[in-house]
Amino acid sequence: MCGIVGYIGKKQAAPILLEGLSKLEYRGYDSAGIAVRDGDQDPAVVKAQGRLSVLVDKTDGGRAVPGTCGIGHTRWATHGEPTETNAHPHASDDINVIAVHNGIIENFQELKDKLLRNGYTFQSETDTEVAVKLIDYYYKKYQVGPIDAIAKTMVRVRGSYALVVMFKDYPGEIYAARKDSPLILGLGESENFLASDVPAILDHTRKVIYPDNYEMVRMTTDIVEVYNLNGDVTEKPVTEVTWDAEAAEKGGYEHFMMKEIHEQPKVIKDTINSVVKKQEDLYTLDLSGCGLSDDEMRQISRVWIIGCGSAYHVGVCSQYVMEDLAEIPVRVELASEFRYRKLGLQKDDLVIVISQSGETADSLAALRKAKELGISTLGIVNVVGSSIAREADYVLYTLAGPEIAVATTKAFSCQLIACHLLSIGFASAAGKIDNATVQKMIVEMLTLPEKVEKIIEDKARIQWFASKFAHASDAFVIGRGLDYGIAMEGSLKMKEISYIHSEAYAAGELKHGTISLIESGTLVIGVATQPDLVKKTISNMVETGSRGAYLFAITFSGNYYLEDRADFVTYIPKTDPHYAASLAVIPLQLLSYYMSVNRGLDVDKPRNLAKSVTVE
Ligand code: M6R
Repeated sequence: MCGIVGYIGKKQAAPILLEGLSKLEYRGYDSAGIAVRDGDQDPAVVKAQGRLSVLVDKTDGGRAVPGTCGIGHTRWATHGEPTETNAHPHASDDINVIAVHNGIIENFQELKDKLLRNGYTFQSETDTEVAVKLIDYYYKKYQVGPIDAIAKTMVRVRGSYALVVMFKDYPGEIYAARKDSPLILGLGESENFLASDVPAILDHTRKVIYPDNYEMVRMTTDIVEVYNLNGDVTEKPVTEVTWDAEAAEKGGYEHFMMKEIHEQPKVIKDTINSVVKKQEDLYTLDLSGCGLSDDEMRQISRVWIIGCGSAYHVGVCSQYVMEDLAEIPVRVELASEFRYRKLGLQKDDLVIVISQSGETADSLAALRKAKELGISTLGIVNVVGSSIAREADYVLYTLAGPEIAVATTKAFSCQLIACHLLSIGFASAAGKIDNATVQKMIVEMLTLPEKVEKIIEDKARIQWFASKFAHASDAFVIGRGLDYGIAMEGSLKMKEISYIHSEAYAAGELKHGTISLIESGTLVIGVATQPDLVKKTISNMVETGSRGAYLFAITFSGNYYLEDRADFVTYIPKTDPHYAASLAVIPLQLLSYYMSVNRGLDVDKPRNLAKSVTVE
């Protein structure tokens, strides 16, 4: 995710901003920029594409940009390519308002249209430039002060933001606002700081204020004021940060993986909101951002889903959903296999390549092969501007933000959501589901973030179980239909970070050979969510239980009869069974995580693995 730093005081701001941004590099970014004011001069703005070191060189370590008040940003592209033009800060044309922003302005297109009608022009493709110009618009139209202009903007903007703003008419002051994106204020002696995360300011101060949602900030060298939406100053407690720098980077979590598990409700919501729009009381899916028209969707006669590792498992889960809703035949292939086979692809096929990094060598080669054959390709990609994003005919971005732990969690969850959205889109375009069903499915999808949150809140139970089974040497994760895809992901997680030999099996297949491996104490995890298959999966679990296996079941709440059959049951909140993977995967992520911790392993950087596999 993007990083923000702001400074106001008596020292030179630029070196402090650059140093603060360097402390946020772990969050991932693809461009950076600073704006620094020297007295009441207009701010000097310097931006650079790529590493922060490019910006450091461009500004001679900050020495080339004098001034004691400034804002800085590292950008992880969401709207628009990672270019210098799209990098922050963004300013109104007369540099009346200049700002950096973290988060996503969901209704930016509607706001941009309004501003275009009012004579504004836009240089970048970003949603941030829209927010900046909207502040400028209200500031000038109503001739109000910065706090009122920001408050009016907050009322119009939908989405998430931490905005840090400077106004030409207010030298020596920095303003800020937040909703659903992190922002902290650091208090110093005759100097004050703003940042998106604690590590950026930890070398200067440990005294911080955490503004709440819908609060605004005015900061000078000696004053820090927090305002509510009515424009009233509110009292905020000052907190002493006790973490060390390393813990601070992980937001207080012990590992990035745990931090990323906890980020899932938010990133799932962001990914849904990037496509789902609400007009009056009706939801619509707007897939125009990825380039696919309804006509093109109607013409698809078969879908291929291609990926590696967890991305492949997203495909396995999603094929059941897409086939069921859109009634399109779906084939799921491992990229490393697909690229070397003659699979009889046809002109009306669509090849979907799923990849977090967008750089996985086999997935990229599979995409290129499909293109050579003249087949339409769609990338479901997390990294904006990555090779797969650039080369695919259509791109649907997941908004997971940078994922640092090698084991994917939040990117996986967003990929699932992207596939659900496509399934509904294809089904609706082809007339396979009516609008009432679309509405029902979207309403239910919007409940997933809260349900994921609930499962995460109950993590102590899984932690307890993991400590009991941390020394298991073998585990089998079984399920039928969509649950088999979830089992594959759960099993991979266990292998890659807990180093426990684990196999995923289609539950009905066990008795064709593998059941001979079951002995007293073998751990069998059964995923049983699909209504027409739950009882069959339970029978398969019981078959292993009667041969000594310890049975761990994951099922929807309400299926309480499992209590009598399994040794340990984890209930997930009820949802549309098509969305089961989004919930059932969470206990499996937590289980692997806690097992890895119990075994004293390097959770975030498991042996022999790389985050992005760019070799064949
Ligand atoms: O970047 P990609 O999504 O293309 O990566 C694909 C796999 O390498 C990746 O999902 C891998 O299996 C994960 N480490 C699993 O947690």
